[in-house]
Amino acid sequence: MGNSIHRWSLIAAIVILVIVFFVLDLSLERSRNQPAFSKEDRTLHVTERLPHAFELGGYLFNESGRSHGLRKRVTTSLVHSFSPYIEREAAKRFIDPPHDNVYFANSPAITWYHGQLVLVARIWLDREKYEPKNDWPANHFADNWLYTQRFNHRMEPITEGAILGIPSPKQWWVGDGPIEPRLFTVGDRLFVSFNEAMAFHPKKFMDFTVFWDMLDNYPIIPRIKGGSPMINASEKDEMPRDKHWMSLIDGDQLYFVHNLDPFRVMHCSLDGFCRFIHDESVRTGLNFKDHVSHLRGGTPFELYRYPYYIGVAHSTMYKRSNHRRFYTAHIVVVSVKPFRIVYVSNDLQIHPQIYQTTPMVRSKYIDDGFIFPVGNILEDKDTMSVGVHVNDYSSEIIRLRGLESLMDKIIDLDQVDSPTHGPPVGYIQQHTHDTMEKVAKLKFLE
Ligand SMILES: *[C@@H]1O[C@H](CO)[C@@H](O)[C@H](O)[C@H]1NC(C)=O
Ligand SMILES: *[C@@H]1O[C@H](CO)[C@@H](O)[C@H](O)[C@H]1NC(C)=O
Repeated sequence: MGNSIHRWSLIAAIVILVIVFFVLDLSLERSRNQPAFSKEDRTLHVTERLPHAFELGGYLFNESGRSHGLRKRVTTSLVHSFSPYIEREAAKRFIDPPHDNVYFANSPAITWYHGQLVLVARIWLDREKYEPKNDWPANHFADNWLYTQRFNHRMEPITEGAILGIPSPKQWWVGDGPIEPRLFTVGDRLFVSFNEAMAFHPKKFMDFTVFWDMLDNYPIIPRIKGGSPMINASEKDEMPRDKHWMSLIDGDQLYFVHNLDPFRVMHCSLDGFCRFIHDESVRTGLNFKDHVSHLRGGTPFELYRYPYYIGVAHSTMYKRSNHRRFYTAHIVVVSVKPFRIVYVSNDLQIHPQIYQTTPMVRSKYIDDGFIFPVGNILEDKDTMSVGVHVNDYSSEIIRLRGLESLMDKIIDLDQVDSPTHGPPVGYIQQHTHDTMEKVAKLKFLE
């Protein structure tokens, strides 16, 4: 008798545990599957200028390569220019009575945080400008700084601007200080990641990625289990560079797409302990090469519909005719279950007038107008606003409309095929090169 009561209560306990487990698991799944757009108002209440409608080409990928080509009509427009306002605000804050430094604001990282749009932009004191004539400005600064300010939905400033107080090593004439900010939030915490050159040991330098805690104001220097793969991947005599990491937040966990092809993903704790959880390079040993690794990091990845995330990457190519650089921006969709590249668009276009009216800062190295993406706000299912700089010269927000039917198509096609992994290592680099040769009608080094 006593025994059977025991047995029944044991069975009941197991049944209850199983039910609790399922309910918890279901609610977890549900929270992950929740549309990414329900919670807060992420729209920018701004005017669209210079709208540019075009057919955005792009491709989905399966295990062997391209699986579907897509063409979708989208429209880009210029919705906000941080320039020249933030250049002036930043310049005011430097101790520089002769005012002979040149301040460019580029790389505007943007994100919503508690209903405020947070900006962190790179302030670049162009020093290359002085090199040819050897007439350096009277006051010397590191040539990169980060500027921050907050804005409301109408893009009106709601705080004073500030130069982030990031004590950075100064060892070079050109290229010191924090470069290419990208903002991300994990739970209630707000970080900016950037790259900056530093010594890890005497005479052992590296351009590495750092997170800066925007609320507590200190750096977190990541430690990658097994060391940075870029130490051995870089070309001889070059300082190793490990940068352009694209953050990706799944629940309360922080990941980085470290590299797009070979596709490498790291998990990082918030105190900077990182390890690769997906690393395609190990099997083939493909290294980073300036003339081969075209598609590179860009904005953070934002959740579109679980397990699909969307970001905007940049690609770098070199023209065969004169070896000058050619930069383009591409929408990239990844899946986190399993980790793989799903889709890469052809180059994002903007109204030609934007290029025509924006000076080319490094005209010694670049002929063709370009946008460089670092910030990514999904306003709603159909609208994505990308923080870019144009020609290294100015910080702008470019809005893209027409995302919903593009993403619906991508997700539908991908779910039918449901590949178990992405294409072979090197495929997307070659694809980017070949596609851009066709689209731009130019020949590029490879
Ligand atoms: C990938 O897609 C292409 C084009 O649809 C197809 O020919 C190929 O068989 C697919 N590969 C795999 C592994 O399913
Ligand atoms: C780089 O190469 C050295 C020498 O072969 C090796 O000891 C080290 O583990 C490698 N580091 C990484 C991160 O692969």
